[in-house]
Parts: sequence; structure tokens; C-alpha cells
Amino acid sequence: MSDAPESLTIAIENRKEQLEEPLKPAAISEEKLQYAKEVIDKDTSIKPFWVNKYKKEASKNWHKFYQRNENRFYKDRHWIEREFPAFTEKKNLRCLEIGCGVGNFMFPMLEKNPHLFMYGCDFAQSAIDLVKAHDMYKQGRCEAFLCDLTIDDLSQTIPAGTIDLVSSIFVLSAIPSEKLEATAKNIAQVVKPGGMICFRDYAIFDAAQVKFSSNPGHMLDNNLYVRQDGTMSHFFSAEQIKALFENEGFETVECEYVHRETINRLMAISIDRRFLQCKFVKKA
Ligand SMILES: C[S@@+](CC[C@H](N)C(=O)[O-])C[C@H]1O[C@@H](n2cnc3c(N)ncnc32)[C@H](O)[C@@H]1O
Repeated sequence: MSDAPESLTIAIENRKEQLEEPLKPAAISEEKLQYAKEVIDKDTSIKPFWVNKYKKEASKNWHKFYQRNENRFYKDRHWIEREFPAFTEKKNLRCLEIGCGVGNFMFPMLEKNPHLFMYGCDFAQSAIDLVKAHDMYKQGRCEAFLCDLTIDDLSQTIPAGTIDLVSSIFVLSAIPSEKLEATAKNIAQVVKPGGMICFRDYAIFDAAQVKFSSNPGHMLDNNLYVRQDGTMSHFFSAEQIKALFENEGFETVECEYVHRETINRLMAISIDRRFLQCKFVKKA
């Protein structure tokens, strides 16, 4: 029998994040964190051939993901308004959602703030097609475009230094570490001084990471794993993400681990999800 704390033994590879209740500052016990670290440290990377293949085929695998799931997988991200009120506080905002998927954040936000213009980019053609087919997709209010953030220059579509707010929601986790610096540079050039990046993503020692490492064969690099469908998931430390944006001229306004405990009453077990939530403001 496994010696895992009960809360970590349940299958949790499920990306239907509910996140409707505010999350609490990370409150996972030392014992559970220690256990998570031990499981993760024991795991080893799969063969380089496969690592390279998954990295090379990232956009193809997300394209297939949206062909299969269309707009049925993610819930609308209404919680973003509560956590990042800047999106509704001002008029005439120009915003960018990186890795917008099928628009689960874009469209609710366009509805809430009629004075907002939103760019949405993604490297999955099927996701961009679904955004453009949405009833609310209207010229003058939004523009969706295909872009691999790691290589395609955002300023070809968005004039440099014009964006007030960027939302980065569970997107950088899909990008391998060695490509994050180029990605952050690409984003930084389109943000205006005083503009803000609103970030939420997977954090190290999240139950999903422990689950991956408990079933070897998923680890590509340190804190980077591949799901069954070939899409990748990185787990960030606060230090890593702060350094990434501070090096591109941003000041960290907020960067904290947040925690959600999901209780399965029937099985009397809990799952500890751990995310990072941050705000970075571009210096003048
Ligand atoms: C977990 S989904 C999140 C989608 C959306 N942000 C949301 O919260 O519903 C990650 C998204 O990032 C996109 N993505 C991953 N790597 C990317 C890259 N290098 N350039 C652009 N988009 C990328 C994927 O296609 C996918 O739509």
C-alpha cells in the first residue's frame, strides 16, 4: 500500500478548474509539502527523443485538444474579475489575453466592460477558429490571432507599448522553461509603462504535480510534465516567475501561492491544489 497522505492518492488529472470561491493563501501542512517534495525528487525524465517530440509538437497537440473538446472543456473564468478588478475598473482599456484558448475569459470580460478592447492570441488554430466563430466576436471590440508566443513577434499585430492589461491564465505552464525568457520579452514589448500582467498558473507541489510524479513516465524536465494528450504542464515557484518578469522591467506588486482544498465527502479525502497568483507592473 502507498504511504502517501490520503489527500494525495486520488486521481486528479482534471483541468475543469472551478475556482469560483476565492482561494486562500497557501495553507498546506509541512508534512504534505515534504511528502510532495520526496515524490517529485524521485522522478526522472523520459528519453530525450520523446522530450523533444512533445516540445516540437506542442501547437499540434493543443490544436487537436480543441478539435476534440471545442468549447466544452474550460469553464468561463468569471473569477478573474474578482481577483484582477483592474479589468473592469477603468474605461478605454486595451487588453491582451495570451493563450486565450476558446475565449473563456475574453468574452465574459467584453460583456462586463463595454469600454474594453481585447486582443486574444493562441498557437492552436482550432482555438482561434472557435473564438472567431463566437456570437460576441465583433470587429472594433476584439481581435483574435494565431501566434506562438515563443517565436512570433507580438508587435507585428499589436503596436509596441500600447497594452494596459495582460492576462496570463494557465498559459506559461504550457511552455518549456528554456523558451520562457523569449516569451516574457515578447509580451513585455507590447505593454505600456504602468501596464500590468495578471498571472495565475500551476505552482510547485500542486497535487497534480505529485500525481504526475507518482506515475513515472510523464516528466520531461524539472517541474515539466506531459499529459496523456501530449500537452505539457509546468509547475512554477514564486522565485522563478518573479525573476522572469523583473528581468524584463516589471515590478512585482503581488506574487503568492494560493491554495484550494477539494473535499470528496463520499470518499472522505481531500486534494490540495496549489497555484501562483501574481501582478507585475511595467516600470516607467
Ligand atoms: C490551459 S489552456 C488555458 C486557456 C485559457 N487561458 C483559459 O484560461 O481558459 C493553455 C492555452 O495556452 C495555449 N498555448 C500554449 N503554448 C502557447 C504558445 N507557445 N503560444 C501561444 N499559445 C500557447 C494553448 O493552445 C491553450 O489554449
